Amino acid sequence: MSRIAPWRRAALAAGTCTAVASLLISGATGAGAANSAAAPDIDIAAVKADLAELQSIADANGGNRAHGQAGYKASVDHLKKKLDAAGFTTKIQEFTHGGATGYNLVADWPGGDAENVVMAGAHLDSVDEGPGINDNGSGSAAVLEVALAVAKADLKPEKHLRFAWWGAEEYGMVGSTHYVNELGSGELGKLDAYLNFDMLGSPNPGYFVYDDDPALEKVFTDYYATKNIATEPETEGDGRSDHAPFKEAGVPVGGLFTGAEATKSQAQADKWGGKAGESFDPCYHSSCDSPKNIDDKALDTNTDAIAHAIWQLSS
Ligand code: TRP
Ligand code: CA
Ligand code: ZN
Repeated sequence: MSRIAPWRRAALAAGTCTAVASLLISGATGAGAANSAAAPDIDIAAVKADLAELQSIADANGGNRAHGQAGYKASVDHLKKKLDAAGFTTKIQEFTHGGATGYNLVADWPGGDAENVVMAGAHLDSVDEGPGINDNGSGSAAVLEVALAVAKADLKPEKHLRFAWWGAEEYGMVGSTHYVNELGSGELGKLDAYLNFDMLGSPNPGYFVYDDDPALEKVFTDYYATKNIATEPETEGDGRSDHAPFKEAGVPVGGLFTGAEATKSQAQADKWGGKAGESFDPCYHSSCDSPKNIDDKALDTNTDAIAHAIWQLSS
């Protein structure tokens, strides 16, 4: 409770009755309320095509898509074009870090209750050392394809949907921190959930689900259970990606992660395959973080899980 900002506590107190009422209603109809359509299956080929495009952008711009480098801004412009064409209301938010301009890309899906916003995001920047395809082209492309699926379905969600791609995460979550600081308490209080996706296709994948908020965690763990995929609570990442500033500001957060430089335990190898002692991503923060550094099945399943969560949480 001490981590919840005072304004948030007031908002929670005021919203308690309606929150309980809607919990009861959704409880009565079961997961994915009876009147809401199921999320579509997202085509992994589309996600992979996005990753190939991000790799081409890195190739054309000195091999990376890092904050302050041409490849970063080119990545932002590329995604913005697709979102604009699909009918999103987009904006680029600028900030400064280390003497260079950084950019967040925010895309709102018109409609839904503006007082109850469900948000999903991923950092779009790489480190200087490489193209950043698993870290974090994977999360960026997954969120993009889910957003495009919302448009394709012409979804009319009860809650307002917002998608974001953050700059300068690799410098300490600079872009997402800037966004949270600029939002102000009024707008922050309207965020029912922030879902974060960072590294979704590690070549030796683990299936880690953020354990920060039990209800959001369950939306994901229930989904993996239907696929017979074992998950583990993600705890190590607290403070290591863009959900941290939202959590710090009192927003409920959730998300997915397939592992970075840490090595697999024997128990993890037993449940997910591979060998104990191998790192989840041997190309983490290196020049070899290319489209070859992706486990397609993990990225496919995780992208479909995001679609499931967005459909369920916004209905
Ligand atoms: N971008 C993060 C980083 O470079 C990647 C990461 C490591 C991460 N551990 C995590 C992301 C746990 C989410 C959760 O450190
Ligand atoms: Ca799929
Ligand atoms: Zn990352």
